[in-house]
Amino acid sequence: MSTKEKLLELLAQARGQSLSGEEIAKALGLSRAAVWKAALALRQEGYALEAAPRRGYALLPGSGPLRLEALLPHLSAEAKRAEIQLFQSLESTNQALKALALQEAPHGTALLAEEQTKGRGRFGRAFHSPKGTGLYLSILLRGDLLKGKIPSAFTLCAAVAACAAVEEVCSLRPQIKWVNDLMLNGRKVCGILSEAAQSLEGGGLDWLVVGLGLNVSTRAFPPEIEALAGSLYEDASPPEDLRPRLAAALLNRLLSPQTWAFGPETRAEYEKRMLFLGERALVRLGEERFQARIEGVDELGRLLVEKEGGGGLALASSEARIEAPG
Ligand code: BTN
Repeated sequence: MSTKEKLLELLAQARGQSLSGEEIAKALGLSRAAVWKAALALRQEGYALEAAPRRGYALLPGSGPLRLEALLPHLSAEAKRAEIQLFQSLESTNQALKALALQEAPHGTALLAEEQTKGRGRFGRAFHSPKGTGLYLSILLRGDLLKGKIPSAFTLCAAVAACAAVEEVCSLRPQIKWVNDLMLNGRKVCGILSEAAQSLEGGGLDWLVVGLGLNVSTRAFPPEIEALAGSLYEDASPPEDLRPRLAAALLNRLLSPQTWAFGPETRAEYEKRMLFLGERALVRLGEERFQARIEGVDELGRLLVEKEGGGGLALASSEARIEAPG
């Protein structure tokens, strides 16, 4: 067994608990420098290995590297036909896929990354995408599937698909915060960013990239989102094979044409999981803020609200944000 494998075995036995460099060195009969080197090699392979100055090393459970071979048995026939690529590290899967879209990559091309160094969110925000503890993926839609569709509805369809995949694989029930945040226990666990190119001829969509970032077992977040962000598995450890199964479930849904049919069924599925449905919430519309009852989603994928003091409004996804009532 190599030093790296020995270290992996020891840390796996510790089940997420930290071991100091000294403890490890003693247990394996190595120098501390050799431990450090082996830890670095594991990290380069995609293991989420924490190393804190006073606490030592800990392997986050369920954080072994994602491999395409591990996804394959869980992929649908449709998804198996798609061009799926997995990277150890990308700046952003959306950015990389948009570049491929411009080079005529086919419908269904999917990119996954073990980490993103410049993960992007809506409103120009960053999306924290550390190695090995989340799923960061983008898929490319083009061709007939886009014809006659409402562009903003794709995000709603993606949110329903992501919830359904999490429900299927993790038996957890995330809710959707308008328009595309998946929430669990009051914290955001998943974000979706759709980016499209308009066709120059027909005026419709030429292609659309749907990117999804899901925090599976991420525990440390940057201070500015610490109070807002969460993970599917915060205290408990996810099963060892969870990430490949969940990645496959997401791809199966995102690569199925039915997912993108925005009709009464999808609207009902969205509303079923919608945070604040039938309740009062604070609506933010640019600089304006008002209390309103959240009524649901209309056939154009707009948010329906009943403003306090009278007046129903249908708001486009890009204009409105909702929060707990003030
Ligand atoms: C948001 O919450 O505002 C949207 C976050 C979207 C993050 C995903 S991760 C995969 C894909 N690549 C990116 O750079 N962003 C999306």
